[in-house]
Amino acid sequence: MYRSHHCGQLRTSNINEEVTLSGWVQKSRDKGFVIWVDLRDRYGITQLIFDADRTPEAMVSMAKSLGREFVIQVTGTVIERSSKNPNLETGDIEILVSKLTVLNEAIVPPFTIEDQTDGGEELRMKYRYLDIRRNPVKNNLIFRHKVTQEVRSFLSSQDFIEVETPYLIKSTPEGARDFVVPSRMNEGQFYALPQSPQTFKQLLMVGGMDKYFQIVKCFRDEDLRADRQPEFTQIDCEMAFVEQEDILNIFEGLTRHLIKSIHGKELSSFPRMTYDDALKTYGNDKPDIRFGMQFGELNAVAQHKDFGVFNAAELVVGIAVPGGNSFTRKEIDGIINWLKRPQIGALGMIYSRCNDDGTYKSSVDKFYDQDDLGQWAKITGANPGDLVCVLSGPTDKVRAQLSALRMELAERLGLRDPKEFAPLWVTDFPLLEWDEDSKRYHAMHHPFTAPKPDQIKLLDTDPGAVKANAYDLVLNGNEIGGGSIRIHDKATQALMFDHLGFTPEEAKEQFGFLMNAFEYGAPPHGGLAFGLDRLVAILGGQETIRDFIAFPKNNSGRDVMIDAPSAIDETQLKELHLKVNLK
Ligand code: AMO
Repeated sequence: MYRSHHCGQLRTSNINEEVTLSGWVQKSRDKGFVIWVDLRDRYGITQLIFDADRTPEAMVSMAKSLGREFVIQVTGTVIERSSKNPNLETGDIEILVSKLTVLNEAIVPPFTIEDQTDGGEELRMKYRYLDIRRNPVKNNLIFRHKVTQEVRSFLSSQDFIEVETPYLIKSTPEGARDFVVPSRMNEGQFYALPQSPQTFKQLLMVGGMDKYFQIVKCFRDEDLRADRQPEFTQIDCEMAFVEQEDILNIFEGLTRHLIKSIHGKELSSFPRMTYDDALKTYGNDKPDIRFGMQFGELNAVAQHKDFGVFNAAELVVGIAVPGGNSFTRKEIDGIINWLKRPQIGALGMIYSRCNDDGTYKSSVDKFYDQDDLGQWAKITGANPGDLVCVLSGPTDKVRAQLSALRMELAERLGLRDPKEFAPLWVTDFPLLEWDEDSKRYHAMHHPFTAPKPDQIKLLDTDPGAVKANAYDLVLNGNEIGGGSIRIHDKATQALMFDHLGFTPEEAKEQFGFLMNAFEYGAPPHGGLAFGLDRLVAILGGQETIRDFIAFPKNNSGRDVMIDAPSAIDETQLKELHLKVNLK
């Protein structure tokens, strides 16, 4: 038996018991006649004591030779500590060791395995197994396990059945590039790894499964960011005989259940907003509504004077920054420089200070009088003490820029409290979006999303205006999930492919299996998928999903621990019928 207890378990009630523990040496302190060793395992730390008066000499010298991260087993008696450590759950006791076995030695780790480590990101990724020994990473993985378990239990209680779908499939367009796998047995042919199980879950509905879910890996070859990994996990769901309302209700229930079971909090409201309103009010389709700073469109009160910059703009729009009048000139210049960086690309910013005495002082006083500035304050909701920040230009660009500024200032002002949860359904997404590069429409969500029935006729005349019963769940400014009501008849699906620029032959070649299935009695259906990594990170009060993934990829999509991707040898290439031009 390696252990009778774990390292987080023993208390004063165990005093005088003989126990056996196994774990890693966190650190040791050698005071000559007494040696203390902190023994660590997943559950905590227990202090061991080797004492020249009470411990055999040979064991004392063995204890002196223990290095950090040695794996050891000890047997000894639980005794009360003379100086207690209130920061440790086991801080009232220690183990007077009578038997010490070194189970495995360890070389010096490349970084300190403590909550605050000296190891940089790349080094910790290379030795991820050591990083996982640290509390912050270990606790994130345990947290992820808890969330996943709650998800499974909630969906199972609602009659959802977990079904596994294949990983070696044919490409499913979700807007990213596919990872492909060459087939040895079918020369010149490739599988694609699923960007999502979209078509399979729809086929499960045709198969009568009715309510499906799967906690499933998805693969997308796309540019990486803090909230994106090339392989990530979805909580993927689909339901038959449902309307949008049924789906939103179930997943509102799931979100409420998670926040209640994980954080003990009841979500007070679960607002909804259309895509168009989200863009108009917050400048993007995933607004963080934990704080205000809503957009105020100022064209009507900014384009009646001689200020050419505003007069030439498609949109003049501002936000009121709470307490922003306290910003110094230098701080405001800093904000303007931040906006002018290529990542944001604004040409400049106009501002108006809202003084405590009700007067205004703007950077364009030459053009605008107190009445004009009063209108700006009114429309943006500014109070005395606030700062109105105004941008102008082409609508799409200016909304994106002001939205970035809104998030940045909220961050700086501490308005993004990670312990507060503000969900929002964004609904009525456009069906199609214009792609300037390919000069054609793409499906905004995916090609299986149904247009709103009363808008199908618009497809021929004004495709960009057609809305879909498609929705995203946004939590604290992050897109946590998305879904839609699907097309479930062959004719509409064919019409959709036609509008996406597929010839009937191409549509048949790529999606014939789905269109055929629709001819055998496909029920009306719809669904949604949550990004599990994002959900877990946000519930954990963070936004970097890497920290909640056991073995993540770095920003270049590499696993630096196992060194993947990597070259394969000539024989393997031949078997796969691949020719590679190695540089
Ligand atoms: P969608 O493409 O919106 O929908 O994806 C659903 C959710 O998955 C998460 N997500 C990601 N998380 C981490 N890294 C990534 N690279 C990544 N890409 C997406 C997001 C997103 O909201 N089949 C549809 C769902 C449906 O229609 O039912 C789909 O995959 O949180």
